[in-house]
Amino acid sequence: MANLAPTSAIPEEFQLPALPTVQGTNPERSPVDAFKLAVAQICAEAFDEKIEKVYPAVEMGKKGVDLSVAIVRFKKGKPADLEVWAKKVIDNFTPSAYLSSVSTPDNRFLFFQFNQNSFNYHLLRHIALTSEASLANPSDKTLSYGTTKEGEGKHMLIDFSSPNIAKPFHAGHLRSTIIGTVISNLYEANGWKVTRLNYLGDWGTQYGLLSVGFDKYGDEQRLLEDPIQELFKVYVQINNAKAEQKKQLDAGETIPEEEQIHFQAKKVFKAMEDGEPKAIAQWARFRDLSIEALKATYEKLNVHFDVYWGESQVSPESMERATKIVQDKGLTCEDRGALLVDLTKYKMDKAIVRKADGTTIYLTRDLGGAHDKYEKYKFDKHIYVVQAAQTLHFNQLFKTLQLMGEPYADKLEHVTFGLVKGMSTRKGTVVFLEDMISDATETMHEQMRSNEAKYAQIEDPQGTSAIIGTTAVKIQDMAGKRVNDYDFDIKRCTSFEGDFGPFIQYSHVRLCSVQRKNPNVPVPISVNEIDVSLLNEPKINDIMYHLALYPTAVKNAYNQSEPSQLVTWCFKLSHLVGAAWETVKVSYAEEETAKARLYLYIQTRQVLADAMRLLSLTPIERM
Ligand code: ARG
Repeated sequence: MANLAPTSAIPEEFQLPALPTVQGTNPERSPVDAFKLAVAQICAEAFDEKIEKVYPAVEMGKKGVDLSVAIVRFKKGKPADLEVWAKKVIDNFTPSAYLSSVSTPDNRFLFFQFNQNSFNYHLLRHIALTSEASLANPSDKTLSYGTTKEGEGKHMLIDFSSPNIAKPFHAGHLRSTIIGTVISNLYEANGWKVTRLNYLGDWGTQYGLLSVGFDKYGDEQRLLEDPIQELFKVYVQINNAKAEQKKQLDAGETIPEEEQIHFQAKKVFKAMEDGEPKAIAQWARFRDLSIEALKATYEKLNVHFDVYWGESQVSPESMERATKIVQDKGLTCEDRGALLVDLTKYKMDKAIVRKADGTTIYLTRDLGGAHDKYEKYKFDKHIYVVQAAQTLHFNQLFKTLQLMGEPYADKLEHVTFGLVKGMSTRKGTVVFLEDMISDATETMHEQMRSNEAKYAQIEDPQGTSAIIGTTAVKIQDMAGKRVNDYDFDIKRCTSFEGDFGPFIQYSHVRLCSVQRKNPNVPVPISVNEIDVSLLNEPKINDIMYHLALYPTAVKNAYNQSEPSQLVTWCFKLSHLVGAAWETVKVSYAEEETAKARLYLYIQTRQVLADAMRLLSLTPIERM
């Protein structure tokens, strides 16, 4: 825990009277909860209700009102009948370190105002203490403001990004990468142990085909230099050659079977499935080199995995086990030699689990894979972050596992998301993640260059544009609800005007600059060194109020696996800071006022940086 000494001496006027504890509130982690509890206590007493029942009715977010309670949630009648209840609360009210006043506009609502000085004091103190604690122990993700220990002792396994080797890294993979990373962070911020798993598409007839292609068209040197490009190139060539042959065959030409690419590929894949060393060795090199290249690219996005797994790693025993259970339970039917699970009863069609030639398929591998992963990780929850186009697949997978009676079947969750439309770079439609990143960086660089004076002051324009460029792409992706589709527009999302990623970075930079630009103002080391009453102005109160809402934003994002909740919070804070900027200045203010404002901006920056890090962004200090 942080060194509490300097701030632990809370001045008499801000000492908070003890309050009853209510399940689901967390005043230790979210100071505003204490202020809400104070309101709940007053109303509970007046209405003769349990405080647990009143607490959820205490609302934030009404314009110009700190906390409000709708009397109608507890008492029935016309406004005139409700007057006695409003009056009862108002007559019994005494100002405290929590609240300064109560009023009613119409007898239907009660409006409470914070004791603003005390509220500001406690919030700033809390933010400072939590950030001190998390700085002292950065590996513990549950120390900073807005975090909880709710998931302590529980393990969440998350499958995200999961691209296919030698095939395009499409928009679906990009979104999964971005959203999956943030969900992982949110779970960690709530005390869960998280294992990030990349489930590569690295198995199936296509990889037999790739082998055949590499023998024909591959270039060893290029493979080592840029495996992702080279394998993709080979993949395209061999597919074209295969299509060409098919045309010839369809036109009645004869090609000996051993020269047919289709057969060659099948043979190699069979050899791979049989574990023949030569076939396996070639494929393993492709896989290893691809993983190395992917890692380097993910690094640029602040994305990390604990495990690179994949379809190839699913154990044959688990797949056989699954196939046997579905058969034994009478869940299957056959069609032209293939084995299918029949889920028509559940409006989920029939799904192949074993092809006619005995080989496995995507679903078989996910069925066996679920068992393998449960054996290995004993997860309490397993999230798959995969585009909505695979909803049927996941419904079939989860239903089948449930019918099989798997003990972990109810711990699985498919987090889905909508489409990205028009995703392209100057090289054309996006195929490589690397191109997307460099395109974002370039476009960002151009945007920055358009302001020459500012540009001249940037120390590392390339590095800075890479960070802001990826911020732009990520924020564009997470700004709306994840189930919605959006139009990819690199020009627009890298703009400094409007609610786009660069604006959030810009606000952070601004907040960083206050201290730099005011070297003569002493930096307060604790809230006890400032006079909080000097912060009592509307634009500051708006910022404080929004900072108080931060834990709620984190909680909503976490509960709903919805990063947009946090993005919206960041934009709002950025606007509030922008609005305060010109009037609530540190420079030219009298020293005590300057100190108090500086302290406020330092704490605000801290919370914004925390939010940005949860969103997997790197907060920059100068631009
Ligand atoms: N590789 C798959 C694709 O690109 C996504 C895999 C998602 N995860 C899973 N366990 N099925 O479509």
